[in-house]
Amino acid sequence: MNDEKQTAQFAVRTTGLTKTYPRGTGTFNALDALDLSVAPGEFVAVMGASGSGKSTTLHLIAGLTRPTSGRVEIDGVDIFALGDAALTKFRRRRIGVVFQSYNLVPHLTAEENILFPLRADRRKLDAETLEKLRAFWRELDISDQLGQYPDALSGGQQQRVALARAMATDPAVLLADEPTGNLDWTSSQRICEIFDRVNRDENRTILLVTHEPAVAIWARRAVVLRDGKIVCDAPTSDFKDAGELAGYYQEIARRNA
Ligand SMILES: Nc1ncnc2c1ncn2[C@@H]1O[C@H](COP(=O)(O)OP(=O)(O)OP(=O)(O)O)[C@@H](O)[C@H]1O
Ligand SMILES: [Mg+2]
Repeated sequence: MNDEKQTAQFAVRTTGLTKTYPRGTGTFNALDALDLSVAPGEFVAVMGASGSGKSTTLHLIAGLTRPTSGRVEIDGVDIFALGDAALTKFRRRRIGVVFQSYNLVPHLTAEENILFPLRADRRKLDAETLEKLRAFWRELDISDQLGQYPDALSGGQQQRVALARAMATDPAVLLADEPTGNLDWTSSQRICEIFDRVNRDENRTILLVTHEPAVAIWARRAVVLRDGKIVCDAPTSDFKDAGELAGYYQEIARRNA
């Protein structure tokens, strides 16, 4: 079948991914030749101390900034080989992103925010798609807040709206940068449960940046960055709980200090 979707071997693959910034009179590598492969349906937590390059990695994979060198493939597509317009379109259709600060548009209601990526893409919503979206909004417990503006919502509600927006386009990969960073324990664990569910049931590929072991333990694999390089890459099943992951994580930080 011509229109059958090709399934790439990797949902995400970075090769020699490098981002260099000016510093003082010279330069430094925020990301240093990063090679990271994520299989379709994997759920990966990216950990590391402040300044280790987590957000830089995520922003490059999201196609929000261009690398100094190296490449990013999403679903087999070399995204930086695309021109700006094609990259924007690809991002909108295939990549969902959630940020720590929610990034909702203040003058749009929750529902308008969620549907924004579909509208921007001029996509028509059929009844079946709309029902699927609505079922997800019920799961997120935001059905009663759809007409509200972001500033009338709690942080947890805003983040669940942001997650609904990221998922509205049925993206190939869901990327999240410290999505629970501004949330209390209960809201944070609720967000993690939803990531876990969409990963297991929908085989959705997830890359989640966090420095919290209690969040990272929900992923199937933990990658730890230091100075823009991977210093650890292990299945989370190696750890009996978040406490053990936290201990290991501190040990790596000490060893590499
Ligand atoms: N636009 C920029 N210009 C110059 N340096 C930058 C820029 N963006 C990031 N950096 C630097 O690159 C390094 C990595 O930053 P990055 O934001 O990826 O870290 P992070 O791991 O996400 O940290 P945090 O946990 O604090 O969010 C840091 O040293 C940071 O100061
Ligand atoms: Mg960051």
